[in-house]
Amino acid sequence: MKVAILTGGGDCPGLNAVIRAAARGCGACGGYMVGVQNGWQGLLEANYKPLTLDTVSGILPLGGTILGTSRTNPFTQEGGPEQIMKNVEAEGIDAVLAIGGEDTLGVAMKLHRDFGLKVVGVPKTIDNDLSGTDYTFGFDTAVSVATEAIDRLHSTAESHNRTMVVEVMGRHTGWIAVMSGIAGGADAVLIPEFPLTVEEVAELVMRRQERGKNFSIVVVSEGAKLTWHSGAEESILASSETDAFGHVRLGGVGSVLGQQLERLTGTETRVTILGHVQRGGTPTARDRILATRFGIKAAEMIEAGHWGKMAALRGDRIDEVELVDAVDTCKYVPREFFDIASVFFG
Ligand code: F6P
Repeated sequence: MKVAILTGGGDCPGLNAVIRAAARGCGACGGYMVGVQNGWQGLLEANYKPLTLDTVSGILPLGGTILGTSRTNPFTQEGGPEQIMKNVEAEGIDAVLAIGGEDTLGVAMKLHRDFGLKVVGVPKTIDNDLSGTDYTFGFDTAVSVATEAIDRLHSTAESHNRTMVVEVMGRHTGWIAVMSGIAGGADAVLIPEFPLTVEEVAELVMRRQERGKNFSIVVVSEGAKLTWHSGAEESILASSETDAFGHVRLGGVGSVLGQQLERLTGTETRVTILGHVQRGGTPTARDRILATRFGIKAAEMIEAGHWGKMAALRGDRIDEVELVDAVDTCKYVPREFFDIASVFFG
């Protein structure tokens, strides 16, 4: 069986570990893989890269993706899905393995449902916002990077008696913020799911000052709105232009929050926006293991012909779920994680 493998959406530590494991697993089942360059764009353009035992060797610890990626949505292009089906047939591709988040897997689901493409999915995103799986690979690495940053900011915050605002990624969910906030001991965490007002955050900073703690670490998720006691709220965007999947570019809420906290508390405040650092570089051991388990599972699903499904982590088991259920709704942070983080606020 000839299987095309592609990586779509934002890159993520662990993508290469999935490619390596899936190629090995597929080979063990008597099949072989061809790489598709730059996500769905590569299937539109018939842009392939041979994947051999040799090309997937040594890539386990590498960040990024050896196949390249893009945020291409074939459904926004005239005749896009039909072109993909034509190219798949012309290349003699029997099945497609799509590694991605809700956008890439949403395309996979529609190509399967509406065009009969034989497809299997693997969940990827540093945001951990994909339903159907407890965790996605890449998330642990992002949380580790953010936690290390918080640790480092603690010492400089304390030396200078400053408030440090750290903005992390996560899109419309606060998974990275809440988990790195717990791991790093943040004094306040702002996430889209459970908003704190700017005044409440300022009070937390001042409460710490009252008990002799003249420094604070405030973690804010890029998708958090700034909310005020009056009920006013403000969304901060890096750009209101949307990508092919309709997403605006987030970023910058940390800077506005920092200015407001300085004004309300009178404390010198600095802002760190972690940005793409959270996505780059080598995956943690946990992400390498999860990515490898997903890759092996995907090869098994392909061999068994379980089309339209996605490998998923449920508890400590690697399971299968319907793609349609995974991309249907966003997975938000449950209250219990925020409650744990908030025990340490102020
Ligand atoms: O979905 C992953 C992610 O890193 C989000 O956390 C972030 O909002 C977005 O991608 C950034 O996208 P880009 O790489 O296009 O700037």
